[in-house]
Amino acid sequence: MSEHEFPNLTVVDHPLIRHKLTLARSRDTPKKLFRELVDEIATLMAYEVTRDLEEEPVEVHTPLEATRGTRIAGKKLVVVPVLRAGLGMVDGVLRLIPSARVGHVGLARDESSLQPVQYYFKVPPAPEQRRFLVVDPMLATGGSAAAAIAGLKERGARRVTLMCLVAAPEGVQRVAEAHPDVRVYAAALDRQLNEVGYILPGLGDAGDRLFGT
Ligand code: PRP
Ligand code: URA
Repeated sequence: MSEHEFPNLTVVDHPLIRHKLTLARSRDTPKKLFRELVDEIATLMAYEVTRDLEEEPVEVHTPLEATRGTRIAGKKLVVVPVLRAGLGMVDGVLRLIPSARVGHVGLARDESSLQPVQYYFKVPPAPEQRRFLVVDPMLATGGSAAAAIAGLKERGARRVTLMCLVAAPEGVQRVAEAHPDVRVYAAALDRQLNEVGYILPGLGDAGDRLFGT
């Protein structure tokens, strides 16, 4: 399947991202390097994902004269990691947007039903005025992402974007059906899910590889 079959999906297309994702996929990549790669890919993707941030004009005084510049307009972006594995992408985004706020959504997939179970939810006030970037390395069945986005919308969020490293076609489709307004950015669109809901070829269990559990 190609990205063209999913109008809600953008596969961020860059040689550095492909190189780092290939290293992250390898079963021989140790935990420390895996963490660094997830972090670096998040930074590279954040550059593309924030391309449409609104700007406003400002005057700036150089040492020589006054000129016009721009700054990012509006309330600060909120980065929302889906716990646990999404935590591995937060610092990578904050490196580019250090003043962003951070919300947290705790969801764990029940291993037999594959349904997400929520155990934590905390986001900044006035969600209706903010733009949210949900981060999670894995979009598998899409249940966790769809639930995280639904939770944000229930609290008033109106502008949500999803950023993941590896997406399965099933997950992209599920998010498109549940949240047609949400654009999904991925470093790769993989082939399929296996019978226990893991992405193929994927990179394994992202939370376990990040945290050594
Ligand atoms: C993983 C991953 C996603 C979810 C994806 O988390 O980080 O949140 O599974 O699967 P889905 O698209 O089928 O919902 P997991 O539930 O394993 O929790 P963890 O991050 O704590 O390891
Ligand atoms: N969660 C993961 O961490 N990996 C997968 O392949 C699917 C869900």
